[in-house]
Amino acid sequence: MKAWQVTSHGEPRDVLELAELPVPQPGPGQLLVKVRAAAANFPDVLMLGGTYQVRPPLPFTPGVELCGEVVEAGEEAGGHRPGDRVIGGSVLPHGAFAEYALMDAGSVLPAPAALDDAEAAPFQVTYHTGWYALHRRAGLKAGETLLVHAAAGGVGSGAVQLGKAAGARVIGVAGGPDKARVARDLGADVVIDRHAEDFVAVVKEATGGRGADVVYDPVGGDAFRRSTKCIAFDGRILIIGFASGDIPQAAMNHALVKNYSIVGVHWGLFARLDPAGVRDCHAELTRLAAAGEIRTLVSERLSLAEVPDGIARLAAGTTTGRIVFIP
Ligand SMILES: NC(=O)c1ccc[n+]([C@@H]2O[C@H](COP(=O)([O-])OP(=O)(O)OC[C@H]3O[C@@H](n4cnc5c(N)ncnc54)[C@H](OP(=O)(O)O)[C@@H]3O)[C@@H](O)[C@H]2O)c1
Repeated sequence: MKAWQVTSHGEPRDVLELAELPVPQPGPGQLLVKVRAAAANFPDVLMLGGTYQVRPPLPFTPGVELCGEVVEAGEEAGGHRPGDRVIGGSVLPHGAFAEYALMDAGSVLPAPAALDDAEAAPFQVTYHTGWYALHRRAGLKAGETLLVHAAAGGVGSGAVQLGKAAGARVIGVAGGPDKARVARDLGADVVIDRHAEDFVAVVKEATGGRGADVVYDPVGGDAFRRSTKCIAFDGRILIIGFASGDIPQAAMNHALVKNYSIVGVHWGLFARLDPAGVRDCHAELTRLAAAGEIRTLVSERLSLAEVPDGIARLAAGTTTGRIVFIP
């Protein structure tokens, strides 16, 4: 089979090599799947660079998330039939940027029938992260104001849609007029182009000086620091990620005097420690997809050959929504 391999750490275009490899064999509790679509994720960027918390031994085939068709189940991997369309994470080193991949039988989920393969591949990271953060961690209520940074990006686009589905008023921050248009099309009520406007001033003005009740922050750095200037009384700032590369420090005295919470979100740990919670979340999100309230924003459907370029552009912050590779 064709598969991308990482043989050393570095930039995507430098370290990815397209190889001809044997189809992997599923071990106990694993599924061999034919990759129908593989999603690009920020952790792919970090893993290629060797800077992610998970460092698979070299060489490995990257690609952490996919929609696949079950081909064969290993021992103790019952309950799945050949032909089942499933989504979830890959088992590295046999990642999704290949024609075949391995998945963990205990954690795969049925692909939502309302979505095609490309839309289903990024579904879990996009929406499970958003649902867990907004509902379980922040307790977002209808009528509250939700501020989403990188609102036209991968997880941000999902948070905008989930915020609207929950009855919140959504303010989206995006870099540049094209991304601002994407955020507006996703349903954001107020959109801020961070290159042209100060989001703190706009949020204050849009909320009558009160500020945002919940902030969804996949960017870190100044996005976090300045969010503390426009967070409401009783507000919650969700720490989703640090796409800016800047991991900010929090001023605890400021959180105290303004009565806001800084809320950590690690979806992967939620998935590992609360499988029943994940199934409930997936059922609710599948219902929202069937009702047309959420639909993965797949901005680019690329071929397997385009993996290095796609991952490099994701790293540079120039993509919108989710990009997907179809072998
Ligand atoms: N906590 C969790 O469980 C969890 C789950 C999934 C993802 N994440 C994290 O969420 C973050 C976003 O992931 P994603 O895949 O959805 O990426 P993404 O949002 O599609 O891309 C990152 C976006 O961040 C913004 N950005 C601002 N400054 C940037 C900079 N200096 N360099 C690059 N981007 C910059 C850009 O949007 P604008 O130009 O529009 O501002 C860019 O498009 C990552 O850090 C990822 O690890 C965390």
